[in-house]
Amino acid sequence: MSAQNDTPETSGETVKLLIDGVEIPAREGQTILEAAADAGIYVPRLCYREGLPPGGHCRICTVKVNGRPTSACTFPASEGLVLENNTDELNTMRRQVVEMLFVEGNHVCPSCEASGDCELQALGYRLGMIAPQYPYQNTTRELDASHPDVMLDRNRCVLCGRCARASRELDGKSVFGFEGRGIGKRIAVNASHGLAGTDIDAADEAVAACPTGCLLVKRQANLIPVGKRTYDKTPIGTDVEA
Ligand code: SF4
Ligand code: SF4
Ligand code: FES
Repeated sequence: MSAQNDTPETSGETVKLLIDGVEIPAREGQTILEAAADAGIYVPRLCYREGLPPGGHCRICTVKVNGRPTSACTFPASEGLVLENNTDELNTMRRQVVEMLFVEGNHVCPSCEASGDCELQALGYRLGMIAPQYPYQNTTRELDASHPDVMLDRNRCVLCGRCARASRELDGKSVFGFEGRGIGKRIAVNASHGLAGTDIDAADEAVAACPTGCLLVKRQANLIPVGKRTYDKTPIGTDVEA
């Protein structure tokens, strides 16, 4: 199975898995993450978004499958799997990944328009991040404010690829893609003069798919006041657990 583009096919046949000692049903071919969610069990995730093919980029969703670390958003459920999810070891690893994402980008939450609606910030809270344990990279990242309605602030990009998948799969536009490698990897747009040269629209699924304050609709930042935003009210994952 390709982690990039293919959503595992579901046969509809029911299988049983054990996750943290609890037996849950799953449709064969459904991913572990989806099966857990259907059973009300939250597997932390960042590059996964319901309705999009899995990306397999962030590794926040790592669980242990029969003792081996595996990304839950790409691994198909099958009969008899024994999974670990909500363990100190895995949550520590997830928190470390989140901490690395914070120091790799330039995140200033108190002045960010997405504060309270941001999945990265919310994961930091949920996973108990107190302060970054790694040195800040202080990289220079380009901000693209060229478009009249949509802003792209790469300082806040976590390279999850959700915008690219949503633009391609749902908007039919392929506005976004990756370019560069390693520390130089960045999200790119399909026009030489930035977002203004693309056919992106503020209502595109690509914009809504961004988990952080990297892609924002202009002039809407403060329509919902701080304190009343999604994760101000409930921690990330509670929608799944409900
Ligand atoms: S994108 Fe999220 S983590 Fe980054 S500064 Fe904004 S609220 Fe904080
Ligand atoms: S712009 Fe947003 S959705 Fe796209 S890769 Fe960066 S953080 Fe992810
Ligand atoms: S949510 Fe599974 S790898 Fe990102």
